[in-house]
Amino acid sequence: MMRGADQLHSVVLAVTFLLLASIAAAFDPSPLQDFCVSIDDPKLGVFVNGKFCKDPMQANADDFTFRGLNMPGNTSNPVGSNVTLVNVDRLKGLNTLGISLARIDYAPYGGLNPPHTHPRATEILVVVKGTLHVGFVTSNPPKLFTKTLHVGDVFVFPIGLIHFQLNVANTNAIAFAGLSSQNPGTITIANAVFGSDPAINPDVLTKAFQVDKNLVDYLQKQLWPQN
Ligand SMILES: *[C@@H]1O[C@H](CO)[C@@H](O)[C@H](O)[C@H]1NC(C)=O
Ligand SMILES: *[C@@H]1O[C@H](CO)[C@@H](O)[C@H](O)[C@H]1NC(C)=O
Repeated sequence: MMRGADQLHSVVLAVTFLLLASIAAAFDPSPLQDFCVSIDDPKLGVFVNGKFCKDPMQANADDFTFRGLNMPGNTSNPVGSNVTLVNVDRLKGLNTLGISLARIDYAPYGGLNPPHTHPRATEILVVVKGTLHVGFVTSNPPKLFTKTLHVGDVFVFPIGLIHFQLNVANTNAIAFAGLSSQNPGTITIANAVFGSDPAINPDVLTKAFQVDKNLVDYLQKQLWPQN
């Protein structure tokens, strides 16, 4: 009798395991880049969702090392900030690990990391120098969450939400941020809207922003440096 019950138990466990395994395999993989258009003939392209993997026997410690985050980014640009991002393009060992790191420098008073989103990552930021006014906005209805951060303060920007950081002190500021993707992607709102190539039809922007067409023309003529 005990033996029969044990066998039944094993069968139930095995069936449960198979069910769980099939559920896990039923999910689509998360996109690791903006898109990955499929092709029928593999000879026509070599991209995958992410990067190819090196033979583990050929890997070495350098694949897991990046140097240089002690160096400030140059903030002499129209927004007064500079993001040095260590993603899978710059640290090959990050591939498939779902994480990356950034150093952000801000020019004294007014250095701005302008409103942007990371389509594939939540961001956790720590201030190591200076004082930052930070915030994010929810999806509709748009609600703003802001805080003034000092050295040692940590703030989290949830995945996909528009966020920003402004240096509100007279010294330069420095922050580091961890991001939950090997390739978080950055959409800078002003750049995407007014600086796309080719330009968005001004009629679209005039109505969307409820402004004069001259203002849209003016904005579309500006240089929108990428950060
Ligand atoms: C950020 O700083 C680096 C290093 O100084 C520089 O090469 C790069 O052009 C800067 N980017 C911007 C947007 O100013
Ligand atoms: C920073 O960038 C500005 C503008 O491109 C340039 O004039 C300046 O020499 C750069 N500073 C450093 C330290 O590279």
